[in-house]
Amino acid sequence: MAKHIKIFDTTLRDGEQSPGCSMNLQEKLELARQLERLKVDVIEAGFAIASPGDFAAVKAVAETIKNCKVASLARALPEDIKRAYEAVKHAESPRIHTFIATSPIHMKYKLKATEEEVLERSIAMVKYAKSLCSDVEFSAEDASRTEAAFLYKVLEAVIEAGATVVNIPDTVGYTTPDEYYNLILNIRNNVKNIDKAEISVHCHNDLGLAVANTLAAARAGATQLECTINGIGERAGNAALEEIAMTLNTRKDLYDLTTNIETTEIYPTSRLVTKLTGMKIQHNKAIVGDNAFAHESGIHQHGMLAHKNTYEIMTPESVGLTNNKLVLGKHSGRHAFEERLNLLGYHLSKDDLNKLFLEFKVLADKKKMIYDKDLEALVEEKSVRIKE
Ligand code: KIV
Ligand code: ZN
Repeated sequence: MAKHIKIFDTTLRDGEQSPGCSMNLQEKLELARQLERLKVDVIEAGFAIASPGDFAAVKAVAETIKNCKVASLARALPEDIKRAYEAVKHAESPRIHTFIATSPIHMKYKLKATEEEVLERSIAMVKYAKSLCSDVEFSAEDASRTEAAFLYKVLEAVIEAGATVVNIPDTVGYTTPDEYYNLILNIRNNVKNIDKAEISVHCHNDLGLAVANTLAAARAGATQLECTINGIGERAGNAALEEIAMTLNTRKDLYDLTTNIETTEIYPTSRLVTKLTGMKIQHNKAIVGDNAFAHESGIHQHGMLAHKNTYEIMTPESVGLTNNKLVLGKHSGRHAFEERLNLLGYHLSKDDLNKLFLEFKVLADKKKMIYDKDLEALVEEKSVRIKE
C-alpha cells in the first residue's frame, strides 16, 4: 500500500523572505485559510521574533487554523524559541521549528563557533523547546555542505533531546538528486534512533534542482517535504509544492507515495499567492502557468482531439482549472460567477457576492466577454471583503 508523505508549506515564512513578497496580517490569514483548503499537513506561519508584525501574524494563523499543524521558525536561541512558542501555543497542533548551521563555512564565518559549541547549543535548545511544546523540528542549516560524521552526530543528539522532526536543508541549492538521495539514505542507515523522528527535506532552487532533489529524497525515505506555492522563496526560490504534489500523483508507479493535498485547490492557491505577493509566474511554469495546458500546434491539437492522453499527462481539472478557459458574459449565472471567483482565489460572503454579481452584470452589458483579469479588477476595484 502507498505510504503517506507529509507536506510542510513554508510560503508564509521562506516564501515571504523572497524580495518584494511580504504580506500583511490579513493577507497571511487569507493564504493560511487557503493552505488549509489545500490540505497541507504543516503551515510554517512565519518567524515570530523577526518583528511585532510577524509575531502577530503567526499568532493569528495559529489561532485560526484548525486542520493543519502551525509552526514558527526560531534560531537556536532561548529568546527566539520562547517567542515562537508564545506565537503558536494556542494552535490546535503547535510546532516550534528551531535551526542552527552545521556546515564548516557557516560555523566558521557566520556563527564563529566550533563543532562542539554548535552541538551543545543544538541539544540545549531542542531540550528547551521540548519543555514548552511536544512537537519540535530541528534543522541543520546548510546540511548538504556539512561533514557527514558531524551531521549524524548532531541529528542523533537532537533526537535524543526530543526532536520529533529532523530537517536536512539544502540551504543554498547546491546538491544534486543522486547526491541528496545518498545523503538521506546514509542518514537513515547511520543515525541511531532515526526512526523516532520524521526526516524532513527542504530544497532551494539555485541550480534549478529543488523539486528533483526533493523527489529524490522522497524516494530515499524522507517523510516530510518542505516547499512553497509557485516555488517562491529566497534567491531562486524553494521547491514548488504544486510540482511535487502533481509528480507524486501522476507517477504513482514510480513513487508509491500519497499526500493529503487536495489537488483541485492547487490553481486557486497559486493565483492567490500571485495576487497577494505580486510575484508573477512565467507563462510556461509547470502545472500553474498560463500555457501549462494550452495546445497550440496543429499536430498537438489533432492528437488531443483523437485522445487527450496523447499530449496531456494530467487533466487541467485535476489542478482546479476548468477545461475550457471559460469566459463569462451577460448570460452567465451567479453559480458560474461564484465558481470562477473561487477558482481565482476569491471566497466572498453571500452579501458581497450578490453586490459584485450586480456590478458584473453592468460590466457584461458593456463588454462582450469578461475575462479573468476583468473579474480580478472588479473585485479589487470594489474592494469587497473576503469571506472569513
Ligand atoms: O534554507 C534553510 O536552510 C532554511 C532553514 C531555516 C530551514 O530555510
Ligand atoms: Zn530555506
